[in-house]
Amino acid sequence: MISINLKHSKVDNSEYKKLFETAKTRFLSEDLGFKRLPYEFPNLLSNFELADNLMKDKKAIVIIGIGGSDLGTRAIHKALNHPHYNEFIDITLNNEPKIYFIGDTTDPESISGLLDVLNLEKTLFLVVSKSGNTIEQASTFAYVRDQYINDNLNPVEYIAFITDPKTGTLREIANKSGYQTIDIPSDVGGRFSVLTNVGMIPSHILNVDIDQMLKGAMDLDELIKDSNLEDPVFEYTLNKFAQYKSGKIISVMMPYQYSLYEFAKWYQQLWAESLGKKFDINGKVVNVGQTPMSALGPVDQHSQLQLFNEGPNDKFFTFIRVEESRQNLNMPSNYKDVEQFEFMNGRNFQEILNFEQETTAFSLSKNDRPNVTISIPKVDAYHLGQLFYFFEVSVTLFGYVLGINPFDQPGVELSKNAMYGVLNKPGYEAIKKDFEEFKGY
Ligand code: PA5
Repeated sequence: MISINLKHSKVDNSEYKKLFETAKTRFLSEDLGFKRLPYEFPNLLSNFELADNLMKDKKAIVIIGIGGSDLGTRAIHKALNHPHYNEFIDITLNNEPKIYFIGDTTDPESISGLLDVLNLEKTLFLVVSKSGNTIEQASTFAYVRDQYINDNLNPVEYIAFITDPKTGTLREIANKSGYQTIDIPSDVGGRFSVLTNVGMIPSHILNVDIDQMLKGAMDLDELIKDSNLEDPVFEYTLNKFAQYKSGKIISVMMPYQYSLYEFAKWYQQLWAESLGKKFDINGKVVNVGQTPMSALGPVDQHSQLQLFNEGPNDKFFTFIRVEESRQNLNMPSNYKDVEQFEFMNGRNFQEILNFEQETTAFSLSKNDRPNVTISIPKVDAYHLGQLFYFFEVSVTLFGYVLGINPFDQPGVELSKNAMYGVLNKPGYEAIKKDFEEFKGY
């Protein structure tokens, strides 16, 4: 189980405790889609079979996704696979498939750059889109499909969709043209979907221990439900909220492990899209939210720490540290001829990393900057599942106490719709006109 040190984040939270208790009671009684996911391993198995069939004779998968359809899978891959996974496969002549990500941009250089290095006949493209309508995935899919047609290959054998079970354009295309599809549960929103097929199908293909990942989330869920135990999510979120109310309007997520940097990016989307809201649930304008930032230790000690320690005192810091590395590296103890380095002789690299985390936390505390340290024994599927679930519950509680809906994203729609207007999608004429006036046409 992950453990959490809240000591340096304490603030008078008595004003908010009752609100959080109410929010937790509500959370426990509600039938939220993402709460079900830790218990759904058996339901995933038939999709794994389908994925295995799709992967026959393939040597690579490409995820075409954006936002919640992309960031969780990236986080899993980076956390649990070799840091140079694709190259490592080449060196070890391992039979695992390589993995690539596109579809989070229509940047032509990114798309054609990837196609330059792929063997299309040996690749499976997974188009991941809950709505099935997002421009980035749709355009990338159409382009990739065309490449197969140009090569006289049937795209249906190389492209599959992970999408809503009933609605959306991808679903319509699949029904018409025979693409294989895998469902995303309708009641789980994009940024809460990492433990659905969105993250679990690529994880299965990459041989991640999904059973353990869901077990990690499940164990945390059981702990949250057990009223006799101290709930770390509750305590963390209560303190963080009280700090937010006292002016800590920025939330910095700073893992001290390269493998968790993509997790910090996943968190960034979860926290931003869920909490940044104009209206509360009664329709009153509130303009709330806590701005998330991702940082990486120790890299950002040499980049952002100056600001963190001495700039505006408007940030709440969450460190993630790992107790045991998957690699045991030590400074050699025989390097004795440089006096200034001698103090490091024989030191363990992970130990140095964790001292860096502690001394950074110390410096922040000395400067009155509230910070929390989440510690995980090691980076593995079990603890990653727990981290995902921890922040999904946390953001839900935070959103409830803010009085907003943490599950929608109306602020994303305006630019999306304007884009449809600009591209002359039927039904978006009014917003196109508005946009043209704004541009001064
Ligand atoms: O959290 C969300 O809902 C969004 O970030 C979506 O995941 C993102 O916009 C991609 O949407 P879709 O999966 O519908 O293509």
